[in-house]
Amino acid sequence: MPRLVSHPDEVKIVSRRFGKGAASIDRYLELGGYESARKCLKQGPEWIISEMKASNLRGRGGAGFPTGLKWSFVPKQNAKPKYVLVNGDESEPGTCKDHLIFQHDPHAVIEGTIIAGLAIGAKLGFIYLRGEYRGLLEIMEKAVAEAYAKGFLGKKIFGTSTEFQIITHTGAGAYEVGEESALMESLEGKRGIPRIKPPFPALVGVYGGPTVINNAETIAAVPHIIAMGGVAFAAAGSPGNGGTRLFSISGHVERPGVYELPMGYNLKKMIYEVAGGVRGGRSLKAVVPGGSSTPVLLPEEIDIGMDFDQVGKAGSMLGSAAVIVIDDATCMVEFALRTISFYQHESCGWCIPCREGTDWLKKTLTRFHAGFGETKDIDNMLYLAENMMGRTFCPLGDAAAMPIVAFVKKFRGEFDEHLGGKGCPFAKPAELVVV
Ligand SMILES: Cc1cc2nc3c(=O)[nH]c(=O)nc-3n(C[C@H](O)[C@H](O)[C@H](O)COP(=O)(O)O)c2cc1C
Ligand code: SF4
Repeated sequence: MPRLVSHPDEVKIVSRRFGKGAASIDRYLELGGYESARKCLKQGPEWIISEMKASNLRGRGGAGFPTGLKWSFVPKQNAKPKYVLVNGDESEPGTCKDHLIFQHDPHAVIEGTIIAGLAIGAKLGFIYLRGEYRGLLEIMEKAVAEAYAKGFLGKKIFGTSTEFQIITHTGAGAYEVGEESALMESLEGKRGIPRIKPPFPALVGVYGGPTVINNAETIAAVPHIIAMGGVAFAAAGSPGNGGTRLFSISGHVERPGVYELPMGYNLKKMIYEVAGGVRGGRSLKAVVPGGSSTPVLLPEEIDIGMDFDQVGKAGSMLGSAAVIVIDDATCMVEFALRTISFYQHESCGWCIPCREGTDWLKKTLTRFHAGFGETKDIDNMLYLAENMMGRTFCPLGDAAAMPIVAFVKKFRGEFDEHLGGKGCPFAKPAELVVV
């Protein structure tokens, strides 16, 4: 679990109340809490959506879809009830920011959910937490109970005739249920495998009703956007990428942790200044910029702004903004093996390219890393990974294949060094004996 860290370059919007006792509703109210929900009750849905669009907030779950636009897709009139669904599954390796929100500022999630509900005309919201976050469930449940006790949730919220209720729910601990349609299946009590899209959740979501599903950080940003105004939030970021982002910086840095920095903040500066540089004075070998599914960048590729567009132009993705820093003592073949082992374990098994592809890649990389690889394995891995991409029911297949393609293409020399029965050049003698 990351500790609370800070750096002068941080612009604290979402993390403003971290470490200030805001998990208690009275403290949250002292710090200006629930004012945005009251304001939204007065202003109405169209105003909320126009503020959200003006904020240029893009989804913090990974895909970066504009939040205001997503909310505007929900039909105004609908026969079935509408829902808000908060995605707190936070399972992408390297990502450790949503849990800080649940821990330090649970009422921001509740308030953001209420505002999303007001925007789309929903009376019920679900907060879905990662299965392993048992401790955070207690914090969230206590916060929800406090909000009910104050009359901020219920049949008549804030003394008006508007109803809004919240239910918390945990998964059983599967990466795949972070995918929005699998999450809805799981919430409904079914096996957590994805749904075929279209229809998209904004039209047919939970229990067949229109559903807005957003990442916990996206939702926690909403009360701040309403408080400061959409335009001011947008101005804190880069063009088309409003506001700040909670960057989870992990791996071989001196000061790992979660830092809130403006969208578009320079990645090189983030590693060398904010996170204190590579641990122990070693050299940088590579950076995974947005969680384990995003293609690796080389040291010469990291002088870029961290927003969805600029990281995309550099050939990778901002994803969940989980920056994993890798030093020169790391074996990239082993790193690739660890990465694919995760996806092989988490594949739900529904479609063949993902189920079989992740398994073959894991087997090949295991053999390769142990020194039993052949030259043709390298091209086979590329062929296999490239043929998984775009051929699966949900993006987990791509998430597994993309990093492997990048590892092989950018570190081919290191793969070659494992050939000829030599095994891993980075392994310590004891490890080679075990191999
Ligand atoms: C395999 C997979 C796992 C995902 N895991 C998460 C997750 O843990 N948390 C999350 O917010 N989004 C996750 N997503 C993205 C969601 O499908 C969805 O895009 C997101 O919740 C939408 O919210 P946003 O617009 O606020 O980003 C995942 C997607 C895939 C394909
Ligand atoms: S891509 Fe993988 S996780 Fe997604 S549906 Fe297919 S088998 Fe399941």
